[in-house]
Amino acid sequence: MNFKLVPIFILIFLIAVGYIITKPKPAKAPENGTPPSTQTPPITNKENKENPPANTPKMFSLEEISTHNTVSNCYMVVSGLVYDISNYSTDHPGGELSIASFCGKEATQDFNTMGGKGKSHSLSAKDLLESKKIGVLK
Ligand code: HEM
Repeated sequence: MNFKLVPIFILIFLIAVGYIITKPKPAKAPENGTPPSTQTPPITNKENKENPPANTPKMFSLEEISTHNTVSNCYMVVSGLVYDISNYSTDHPGGELSIASFCGKEATQDFNTMGGKGKSHSLSAKDLLESKKIGVLK
């Protein structure tokens, strides 16, 4: 036997062992035979239904709004939005009655015309109304 070849054999052996150890292994299939799923699980809306985002507006039906029909418990609808103007009527520059008669009602036209006066409320009056918004009409 040619002993000069021994280091070469050892070298070849070490390269082969190194290759076997470092060779990337194929993904192991699960026992039931189905391939591993690459799809991410569907995102369910369960949490969102139970805890709606804070910015979701509250919805009111006209029926519910109609139960808030006194000056101390006064909801009003203007342009599809719902406002709680409870206890504001006594401060209203246009008089208590003009507001009181619209508690629990849809009042878009009357708000926009100041009850048929043909004038529109000022920007500050609209800002004041905006600050009393509680939701939207269903
Ligand atoms: C549909 C219901 C309403 C009617 C019919 C009505 C009518 C009137 C009238 C007749 C005036 C006096 C205008 C004048 O002679 O100078 C007035 C003024 C005023 N109203 Fe109303 N109003 C209503 C709702 C509201 C609401 C909900 C707010 C606020 C939350 C509001 C805020 C004001 C303010 C601040 C003024 C003073 C003038 C101005 O800044 O435009 N009103 N309103």
